[in-house]
Amino acid sequence: MTVLTGDRPTGPLHIGHYFGSLANRLALQDTHEVFVLLADYQVITDRDLPGEIQRNITDVLLDYLAIGLDPAKVTIFQHSALPELNQLLLPFLSLVTVAELGRNPTVKDEIAHSSQAAVSGLMFTYPVHQAADILFCKGTLVPVGKDQLPHIEVTRTIARRFNERYAPVFPVPEAMLSRTPLLGGLDGGKMSKSRGNSIALKASEDETAALIRRAVTDADRRITFEPETRPGVATLLTIAGLCSGREPRELAEEIGDGGAAALKRLTTEAVNEFFRPIRKRRAELTEQDARAVLAEGNERARAVAIRTLEEVRQAMGF
Ligand code: TRP
Repeated sequence: MTVLTGDRPTGPLHIGHYFGSLANRLALQDTHEVFVLLADYQVITDRDLPGEIQRNITDVLLDYLAIGLDPAKVTIFQHSALPELNQLLLPFLSLVTVAELGRNPTVKDEIAHSSQAAVSGLMFTYPVHQAADILFCKGTLVPVGKDQLPHIEVTRTIARRFNERYAPVFPVPEAMLSRTPLLGGLDGGKMSKSRGNSIALKASEDETAALIRRAVTDADRRITFEPETRPGVATLLTIAGLCSGREPRELAEEIGDGGAAALKRLTTEAVNEFFRPIRKRRAELTEQDARAVLAEGNERARAVAIRTLEEVRQAMGF
Protein backbone atom coordinates (compact mmCIF):
# COMPACT_ATOMS: atom_id res chain seq x y z
CA MET A 1 0.00 0.00 0.00
CA THR A 2 1.26 3.43 -0.94
CA VAL A 3 -0.07 6.53 0.78
CA LEU A 4 -0.10 9.90 -0.97
CA THR A 5 -1.44 13.09 0.48
CA GLY A 6 -0.63 16.76 0.35
CA ASP A 7 -1.24 20.37 1.29
CA ARG A 8 -1.38 23.63 -0.57
CA PRO A 9 1.48 25.72 0.84
CA THR A 10 -0.46 28.93 1.45
CA GLY A 11 0.70 29.51 5.05
CA PRO A 12 1.64 27.69 8.24
CA LEU A 13 -0.54 24.74 9.24
CA HIS A 14 -3.04 25.01 12.08
CA ILE A 15 -4.38 22.70 14.77
CA GLY A 16 -7.32 21.72 12.53
CA HIS A 17 -4.79 20.27 10.06
CA TYR A 18 -3.10 18.46 12.91
CA PHE A 19 -6.15 16.57 14.15
CA GLY A 20 -7.75 16.32 10.71
CA SER A 21 -4.89 14.88 8.69
CA LEU A 22 -1.37 15.25 10.12
CA ALA A 23 -2.01 12.84 13.02
CA ASN A 24 -3.17 10.24 10.49
CA ARG A 25 0.05 10.55 8.49
CA LEU A 26 2.11 10.14 11.62
CA ALA A 27 0.43 6.82 12.31
CA LEU A 28 0.79 5.66 8.69
CA GLN A 29 4.49 6.40 8.34
CA ASP A 30 5.38 3.38 10.47
CA THR A 31 3.38 0.90 8.42
CA HIS A 32 3.17 2.28 4.86
CA GLU A 33 5.22 3.87 2.15
CA VAL A 34 4.16 7.53 2.49
CA PHE A 35 4.50 10.42 0.04
CA VAL A 36 3.61 13.94 1.19
CA LEU A 37 3.20 16.61 -1.46
CA LEU A 38 3.66 20.34 -1.10
CA ALA A 39 1.18 21.14 -3.85
CA ASP A 40 2.83 24.38 -4.93
CA TYR A 41 1.30 24.58 -8.42
CA GLN A 42 -2.11 24.17 -6.81
CA VAL A 43 -1.67 27.44 -4.92
CA ILE A 44 -2.54 29.40 -8.07
CA THR A 45 -5.94 27.79 -8.58
CA ASP A 46 -7.90 30.31 -6.52
CA ARG A 47 -5.52 33.29 -6.62
CA ASP A 48 -3.54 35.11 -9.30
CA LEU A 49 -0.08 34.92 -7.69
CA PRO A 50 1.74 32.28 -5.63
CA GLY A 51 2.49 34.94 -2.98
CA GLU A 52 5.21 34.22 -0.45
CA ILE A 53 5.63 30.73 -1.79
CA GLN A 54 9.18 30.07 -0.49
CA ARG A 55 8.29 31.31 2.99
CA ASN A 56 5.12 29.21 3.03
CA ILE A 57 6.86 26.07 1.80
CA THR A 58 9.47 26.42 4.54
CA ASP A 59 6.76 26.98 7.14
CA VAL A 60 4.85 23.85 6.15
CA LEU A 61 8.06 21.81 6.02
CA LEU A 62 8.99 22.95 9.53
CA ASP A 63 5.48 22.06 10.70
CA TYR A 64 5.83 18.57 9.18
CA LEU A 65 9.18 17.94 10.83
CA ALA A 66 8.09 19.41 14.16
CA ILE A 67 5.07 17.13 14.49
CA GLY A 68 7.33 14.15 13.86
CA LEU A 69 7.09 13.24 10.19
CA ASP A 70 10.33 11.37 9.71
CA PRO A 71 12.12 12.12 6.43
CA ALA A 72 13.77 8.71 6.61
CA LYS A 73 10.31 7.15 6.25
CA VAL A 74 8.30 9.79 4.40
CA THR A 75 9.09 11.32 1.00
CA ILE A 76 8.24 15.03 1.08
CA PHE A 77 8.28 16.72 -2.34
CA GLN A 78 6.78 19.52 -4.45
CA HIS A 79 5.02 19.76 -7.82
CA SER A 80 7.42 22.25 -9.30
CA ALA A 81 10.39 19.88 -8.90
CA LEU A 82 8.76 16.99 -10.78
CA PRO A 83 8.34 17.73 -14.51
CA GLU A 84 7.38 14.08 -15.15
CA LEU A 85 4.49 14.23 -12.69
CA ASN A 86 3.21 17.37 -14.36
CA GLN A 87 3.47 15.77 -17.79
CA LEU A 88 0.96 13.09 -16.74
CA LEU A 89 -1.63 15.86 -16.81
CA LEU A 90 -1.79 15.73 -20.62
CA PRO A 91 -2.88 12.12 -21.17
CA PHE A 92 -5.06 12.32 -18.06
CA LEU A 93 -6.96 15.34 -19.41
CA SER A 94 -7.92 13.25 -22.42
CA LEU A 95 -9.65 10.77 -20.14
CA VAL A 96 -12.27 13.13 -18.67
CA THR A 97 -14.99 15.22 -20.26
CA VAL A 98 -15.57 18.93 -19.87
CA ALA A 99 -19.02 18.13 -18.47
CA GLU A 100 -17.49 15.93 -15.76
CA LEU A 101 -15.05 18.66 -14.78
CA GLY A 102 -17.88 21.19 -14.55
CA ARG A 103 -19.87 19.02 -12.12
CA ASN A 104 -17.20 18.82 -9.39
CA PRO A 105 -18.89 20.22 -6.24
CA THR A 106 -15.63 21.20 -4.51
CA VAL A 107 -14.52 23.18 -7.55
CA LYS A 108 -17.93 24.89 -7.67
CA ASP A 109 -17.61 25.83 -4.00
CA GLU A 110 -14.11 27.21 -4.51
CA ILE A 111 -15.28 29.28 -7.45
CA ALA A 112 -18.06 30.68 -5.28
CA HIS A 113 -15.52 31.69 -2.58
CA SER A 114 -12.72 32.83 -4.88
CA SER A 115 -11.73 36.48 -4.95
CA GLN A 116 -10.64 36.24 -8.59
CA ALA A 117 -12.48 38.28 -11.19
CA ALA A 118 -12.75 35.32 -13.57
CA VAL A 119 -12.41 31.56 -13.32
CA SER A 120 -9.17 30.18 -14.73
CA GLY A 121 -8.76 26.97 -16.72
CA LEU A 122 -6.63 25.62 -13.87
CA MET A 123 -9.59 25.88 -11.50
CA PHE A 124 -11.47 23.35 -13.64
CA THR A 125 -8.52 21.08 -14.35
CA TYR A 126 -6.59 20.96 -11.08
CA PRO A 127 -8.50 17.85 -9.92
CA VAL A 128 -6.98 16.08 -12.95
CA HIS A 129 -3.56 17.35 -11.91
CA GLN A 130 -4.34 16.01 -8.46
CA ALA A 131 -4.94 12.62 -10.09
CA ALA A 132 -1.38 12.87 -11.41
CA ASP A 133 -0.22 13.62 -7.83
CA ILE A 134 -1.81 10.42 -6.63
CA LEU A 135 -1.10 8.14 -9.57
CA PHE A 136 2.50 9.06 -10.34
CA CYS A 137 3.53 6.99 -7.30
CA LYS A 138 0.69 4.49 -7.78
CA GLY A 139 -0.88 5.65 -4.56
CA THR A 140 -3.55 3.34 -3.18
CA LEU A 141 -4.60 5.20 -0.03
CA VAL A 142 -5.27 8.94 0.13
CA PRO A 143 -5.90 10.45 3.59
CA VAL A 144 -8.01 13.56 3.01
CA GLY A 145 -10.85 15.66 4.33
CA LYS A 146 -14.39 15.17 3.06
CA ASP A 147 -14.13 18.11 0.67
CA GLN A 148 -11.52 16.19 -1.32
CA LEU A 149 -13.74 13.18 -2.10
CA PRO A 150 -14.83 14.49 -5.54
CA HIS A 151 -11.15 14.74 -6.51
CA ILE A 152 -10.51 11.16 -5.43
CA GLU A 153 -13.47 10.13 -7.58
CA VAL A 154 -11.88 11.90 -10.57
CA THR A 155 -8.63 10.06 -9.84
CA ARG A 156 -10.41 6.69 -9.69
CA THR A 157 -12.15 7.39 -12.99
CA ILE A 158 -8.88 8.34 -14.65
CA ALA A 159 -7.08 5.25 -13.34
CA ARG A 160 -9.87 2.95 -14.57
CA ARG A 161 -10.15 4.59 -17.98
CA PHE A 162 -6.40 4.57 -18.53
CA ASN A 163 -6.22 0.91 -17.63
CA GLU A 164 -9.12 0.05 -19.97
CA ARG A 165 -7.99 2.17 -22.88
CA TYR A 166 -4.27 1.33 -22.78
CA ALA A 167 -2.84 -1.15 -20.29
CA PRO A 168 -3.29 -1.89 -16.58
CA VAL A 169 -0.76 0.59 -15.19
CA PHE A 170 -2.57 2.16 -12.24
CA PRO A 171 -4.19 0.92 -9.04
CA VAL A 172 -7.59 2.47 -8.26
CA PRO A 173 -6.96 4.42 -5.04
CA GLU A 174 -9.22 4.75 -2.00
CA ALA A 175 -9.82 7.84 0.12
CA MET A 176 -9.19 7.56 3.83
CA LEU A 177 -11.32 9.92 5.88
CA SER A 178 -10.14 11.13 9.26
CA ARG A 179 -12.28 10.11 12.23
CA THR A 180 -11.98 13.62 13.64
CA PRO A 181 -14.75 15.88 12.37
CA LEU A 182 -13.71 19.13 10.70
CA LEU A 183 -12.72 21.60 13.43
CA GLY A 184 -14.72 24.79 13.55
CA GLY A 185 -12.99 28.17 13.51
CA LEU A 186 -12.79 30.46 16.54
CA ASP A 187 -15.34 32.77 14.91
CA GLY A 188 -17.97 30.06 14.53
CA GLY A 189 -17.18 29.49 10.83
CA LYS A 190 -14.90 26.92 9.17
CA MET A 191 -11.32 26.86 10.50
CA SER A 192 -9.17 28.26 7.72
CA LYS A 193 -5.73 29.79 7.31
CA SER A 194 -7.11 32.65 5.29
CA ARG A 195 -9.93 33.60 7.67
CA GLY A 196 -7.74 34.49 10.70
CA ASN A 197 -9.82 32.21 12.92
CA SER A 198 -7.34 29.39 13.45
CA ILE A 199 -4.53 28.56 15.85
CA ALA A 200 -1.30 27.93 13.95
CA LEU A 201 0.77 24.99 15.17
CA LYS A 202 3.68 27.39 15.52
CA ALA A 203 1.75 30.07 17.46
CA SER A 204 3.34 31.04 20.79
CA GLU A 205 1.56 30.32 24.08
CA ASP A 206 0.61 33.99 24.40
CA GLU A 207 -0.69 34.14 20.84
CA THR A 208 -2.73 31.02 21.53
CA ALA A 209 -4.20 32.58 24.67
CA ALA A 210 -5.05 35.80 22.81
CA LEU A 211 -6.73 33.92 19.94
CA ILE A 212 -8.83 31.83 22.30
CA ARG A 213 -9.74 34.88 24.39
CA ARG A 214 -11.23 36.46 21.26
CA ALA A 215 -13.16 33.32 20.28
CA VAL A 216 -16.90 33.74 19.78
CA THR A 217 -18.99 32.10 22.53
CA ASP A 218 -22.30 33.11 24.11
CA ALA A 219 -23.69 34.65 27.30
CA ASP A 220 -24.98 31.45 28.91
CA ARG A 221 -22.78 30.78 31.96
CA ARG A 222 -23.67 27.11 32.06
CA ILE A 223 -21.28 25.31 29.69
CA THR A 224 -22.87 22.52 27.66
CA PHE A 225 -21.79 20.63 24.56
CA GLU A 226 -24.41 21.43 21.91
CA PRO A 227 -22.76 21.76 18.49
CA GLU A 228 -26.02 22.71 16.73
CA THR A 229 -27.18 25.51 19.00
CA ARG A 230 -23.87 26.58 20.63
CA PRO A 231 -21.23 26.12 17.89
CA GLY A 232 -18.68 28.51 19.45
CA VAL A 233 -18.73 26.79 22.84
CA ALA A 234 -18.73 23.37 21.17
CA THR A 235 -15.66 24.23 19.09
CA LEU A 236 -13.66 25.18 22.18
CA LEU A 237 -14.79 22.04 24.00
CA THR A 238 -13.82 19.94 20.97
CA ILE A 239 -10.36 21.52 20.77
CA ALA A 240 -9.82 21.09 24.52
CA GLY A 241 -11.04 17.49 24.26
CA LEU A 242 -8.72 16.59 21.39
CA CYS A 243 -5.73 18.13 23.15
CA SER A 244 -6.42 16.47 26.51
CA GLY A 245 -7.73 13.14 25.20
CA ARG A 246 -11.07 13.63 26.93
CA GLU A 247 -14.73 13.83 25.93
CA PRO A 248 -16.09 17.36 25.26
CA ARG A 249 -19.26 16.52 27.22
CA GLU A 250 -17.27 15.49 30.25
CA LEU A 251 -15.26 18.72 30.14
CA ALA A 252 -18.49 20.74 29.87
CA GLU A 253 -19.87 19.11 33.00
CA GLU A 254 -16.66 19.82 34.86
CA ILE A 255 -16.78 23.51 33.95
CA GLY A 256 -20.47 23.67 34.84
CA ASP A 257 -21.43 27.27 35.65
CA GLY A 258 -17.90 28.58 35.18
CA GLY A 259 -18.87 30.42 31.99
CA ALA A 260 -16.86 31.23 28.88
CA ALA A 261 -13.88 32.52 30.88
CA ALA A 262 -13.30 29.15 32.56
CA LEU A 263 -13.85 27.34 29.26
CA LYS A 264 -11.28 29.54 27.52
CA ARG A 265 -8.76 29.10 30.31
CA LEU A 266 -9.09 25.33 30.15
CA THR A 267 -8.86 25.28 26.34
CA THR A 268 -5.78 27.49 26.30
CA GLU A 269 -4.01 25.27 28.80
CA ALA A 270 -4.92 22.11 26.90
CA VAL A 271 -3.69 23.48 23.55
CA ASN A 272 -0.48 24.89 24.96
CA GLU A 273 0.32 21.73 26.86
CA PHE A 274 -0.36 19.42 23.92
CA PHE A 275 1.63 21.46 21.39
CA ARG A 276 4.50 22.46 23.71
CA PRO A 277 6.89 19.66 22.64
CA ILE A 278 5.99 20.20 18.96
CA ARG A 279 6.61 23.93 19.21
CA LYS A 280 9.86 23.34 21.04
CA ARG A 281 11.08 21.00 18.31
CA ARG A 282 10.02 23.48 15.65
CA ALA A 283 12.06 26.24 17.28
CA GLU A 284 15.14 24.00 17.23
CA LEU A 285 14.92 23.24 13.50
CA THR A 286 16.62 25.46 10.96
CA GLU A 287 15.38 26.47 7.52
CA GLN A 288 18.41 24.70 6.07
CA ASP A 289 17.25 21.44 7.71
CA ALA A 290 13.89 21.88 6.04
CA ARG A 291 15.37 22.69 2.63
CA ALA A 292 17.64 19.65 2.76
CA VAL A 293 14.70 17.37 3.52
CA LEU A 294 12.79 18.76 0.55
CA ALA A 295 15.74 18.44 -1.84
CA GLU A 296 16.15 14.81 -0.94
CA GLY A 297 12.44 14.09 -1.11
CA ASN A 298 12.22 15.76 -4.52
CA GLU A 299 15.00 13.57 -5.81
CA ARG A 300 13.38 10.35 -4.54
CA ALA A 301 9.93 11.30 -5.84
CA ARG A 302 11.30 12.35 -9.22
CA ALA A 303 12.88 8.96 -9.79
CA VAL A 304 9.44 7.41 -9.23
CA ALA A 305 7.76 9.91 -11.58
CA ILE A 306 10.29 9.20 -14.34
CA ARG A 307 9.53 5.48 -14.12
CA THR A 308 5.76 5.95 -14.19
CA LEU A 309 5.85 8.38 -17.11
CA GLU A 310 7.93 5.88 -19.04
CA GLU A 311 5.34 3.17 -18.38
CA VAL A 312 2.58 5.52 -19.49
CA ARG A 313 4.38 6.35 -22.73
CA GLN A 314 4.93 2.67 -23.41
CA ALA A 315 1.30 1.80 -22.69
CA MET A 316 0.13 4.58 -25.03
CA GLY A 317 2.53 3.58 -27.76
CA PHE A 318 4.56 6.77 -27.84
N1 TRP B 1 -6.31 19.70 -2.78
C1 TRP B 1 -5.68 19.44 -1.51
C2 TRP B 1 -6.09 20.53 -0.53
O1 TRP B 1 -6.53 21.59 -0.95
C3 TRP B 1 -4.17 19.38 -1.59
C4 TRP B 1 -3.68 18.29 -2.50
C5 TRP B 1 -3.02 18.44 -3.67
C6 TRP B 1 -3.83 16.89 -2.30
N2 TRP B 1 -2.74 17.26 -4.23
C7 TRP B 1 -3.21 16.26 -3.42
C8 TRP B 1 -4.43 16.09 -1.31
C9 TRP B 1 -3.22 14.88 -3.58
C10 TRP B 1 -4.41 14.69 -1.46
C11 TRP B 1 -3.81 14.11 -2.59
O2 TRP B 1 -5.96 20.35 0.65
